[in-house]
Amino acid sequence: MDLFEYADRKETDERERYEELCRVVRRNNELYYAKATPEITDAEYDRLYREIEEIEARHPEYKTAESPTQRVGNDLTEGFAKIKHPTPMLSIDDVFEHKPAPGHETDEELTDFYERLCQALGDDEPHVVVEPKIDGCAVTLMYREGKLAYAATRGDGSVGDDITANVRTIKSVPQQLPPGAPNTLEVRGEIYMPSAEFDALNAQRDAEGLPAFANPRNATAGSIKLLDTAEVARRPLRFLAHGMGAYNGEPLHNMDDYERLLTDMQIPYNKPILHARGADEVRAVVKEMDRIRHDLGFGTDGAVIKLNDFARRDELGATARAPRWAAAFKYLPEQKETKLLGITVQVGRTGVLTPVAELQPTLISGSTVSRATLHNQDEIARKDIRIGDTVLIEKAGEIIPSVVKVIEAKRTAEAQPYSLPDAVGGVCPSCGAPISQEEGQVAWRCTNFACPAQAVTRTSYFCSRTALDIENLGGVVAEALVNTGLIHTPLELFRLTREELGTLNLGTSEEPRRFGEKNAAKAVDSLEKARMLPLERWITAFGISSIGSVTAREVAKYHRDLLELADSDYLRTLVKLENDISDYNRLNPESRANKGKEKADLESRRAELLDGIRQTAAPYTARGYLSTEPDGRNKLRLVNPIGSVSCRKLLAYWESAAGQHVLTALRELGINPVSDCYVENMSSETQGTLTGLTFVLTGSLSIPRDEMERRIAAAGGKAAGSVTKKTNYLVAGEGGGSKRDKAVKLNIPIIDEATLLRMMQPTDEP
Ligand code: IVH
Repeated sequence: MDLFEYADRKETDERERYEELCRVVRRNNELYYAKATPEITDAEYDRLYREIEEIEARHPEYKTAESPTQRVGNDLTEGFAKIKHPTPMLSIDDVFEHKPAPGHETDEELTDFYERLCQALGDDEPHVVVEPKIDGCAVTLMYREGKLAYAATRGDGSVGDDITANVRTIKSVPQQLPPGAPNTLEVRGEIYMPSAEFDALNAQRDAEGLPAFANPRNATAGSIKLLDTAEVARRPLRFLAHGMGAYNGEPLHNMDDYERLLTDMQIPYNKPILHARGADEVRAVVKEMDRIRHDLGFGTDGAVIKLNDFARRDELGATARAPRWAAAFKYLPEQKETKLLGITVQVGRTGVLTPVAELQPTLISGSTVSRATLHNQDEIARKDIRIGDTVLIEKAGEIIPSVVKVIEAKRTAEAQPYSLPDAVGGVCPSCGAPISQEEGQVAWRCTNFACPAQAVTRTSYFCSRTALDIENLGGVVAEALVNTGLIHTPLELFRLTREELGTLNLGTSEEPRRFGEKNAAKAVDSLEKARMLPLERWITAFGISSIGSVTAREVAKYHRDLLELADSDYLRTLVKLENDISDYNRLNPESRANKGKEKADLESRRAELLDGIRQTAAPYTARGYLSTEPDGRNKLRLVNPIGSVSCRKLLAYWESAAGQHVLTALRELGINPVSDCYVENMSSETQGTLTGLTFVLTGSLSIPRDEMERRIAAAGGKAAGSVTKKTNYLVAGEGGGSKRDKAVKLNIPIIDEATLLRMMQPTDEP
């Protein structure tokens, strides 16, 4: 019997989820660090980041140097000179406080961290210091011969933005150190804005009709990147030191030495510094810090625990992202009860409609809160939140608070249930287009590609590196283009002139900042080049939900160009096969669901379906992704290389207004991207030398991995991501760990690159 099986599906799902998570985290890194306009709360960010770490623990092979876990956030901004850091400016690994649960300590992650320190050092009670974690912006101050040589942001960790002129306006940063200063002293620390001054600044902006800053961190990040130093001087910025970079002076052995040096140099150090030895003391001191931190007068988002002894720090070293000798403990957010007065709806920058709670104003973690996110309709239903309820809210980090739960005991008869689609009358509150809820997803979205609320995000994603990689068109520029009405959709970028772009104002009317001729010329050049980029990059750029760069590449293998994809027989066939196969499986006379039904009838309907399935599948079986192995349970399965959800999403996209808009616009622009990985010889007649064989690649090869995969596919074979029973060969280059172990365990032959290349050659035996 012909049976089709798709073994790697689950893994593909996880991989897609992984790519998606990385994308969201990367985008929010950019929003947070470079633009100071985060879209999600710190707690949400932490959750996504954790999930990436978990997937990477299960699948170390997914991890690349580009993974957010391998990099520090990036604040680099156009318009600033760049400075190379003498030693990398790293991030810190987080450990979280947990809600009380039976059998678990709320601070067990902290204990685990301390135990790791003990083990690594072979010491039961290493001496650590605990400091407040300032919620500000990382900065480094370089003093040479006692003079402030420069100040720079963290940037991407190895190169930062030169913000010397701005930092010179901050009074707590000395320009000249007292006599006896070390030859070289690089002080690392945080620029922040005290809470009271932040409130005053916002009140003043309000009076002047300027938009308020969301929180002190955003206000700080925006201020240190202003081009007008006189305005920076008016912003209430402060500096506190918390670390050290390059150093050339009297030897320093520990935190006491460093603190003494900075005190002598009149550089303010972040305080209090609490000392602890042994796990119990560490936990007590971290609790103590939670009591102290609310009275410091500035926002904190945790406590930092560091080894005291510098030689021991060096001994432990760092990963690419963070030192092994430090951790940031993130306290659980503060919670408060208040009344839900109403629910409004915001259209987010990705088209998601978010319900927002309008609350009775209440003071929490030092600021007054009157709105909170309700996430989505499912969340409202799940928590049974009704207008008029008393709710428990919490504030994680300094951004938007969220509603934790309803205090049921306080519910009154007037409480009104709420439904988002009903409340907005089924249309987007921003543009009036219909809204829809995608299968399996909780969010309601605006379906309009040209919805003004989405234009900025779509444009910056369209120009991002994985998409069309348009030089100089980052988030700030996209925002200015949309706000000034120069573009409404990403494809309108192709109609911009150099002059329009060059004179674009990236600042405000009070603080203008021109995009500039040179930048404009580069952007226009790379837009010109983008016209010729391969199909997969364009598919990625459209930002179709669940179609990331990995799926886009797979899709491009089966379509010659965009026009073929937009009217794809292939996708329709896959979906038809899947539907028929699911009907076929459902009619199984042996299944319990069919008890009592006429067996002969079931068999005959089944035979009919099978016939159809065989005929439809015939042209594709030779493509090497339709397996013909029985699975023993009288069931059929389809090998769908693109994935069921992706196939359906793509078909729906081309039928949607958004897809139609893209096709029309591209036709008018004369752009029809062509696939550069279309596998010509996958037609039913051609049998390659590798037809029917599945390969997994590991370790480093002499040519790029995707090129090797292309060659395997061109020879009729399949390249899979992970070793399973279905793998025929593991191709191992230099290195390669877990896949090799798995292949040995499953008795799968391991070959080298040369052997694979030989196998690709046509045999010339008679
Ligand atoms: S120590 C190698 N101590 O938090 C990095 N960092 O989330 C060691 N931060 O990049 C940094 N308060 O900019 C340290 N008391 C403190 C801190 C602190 C805030 C910042 C710092 C770091 C970021 C990581």
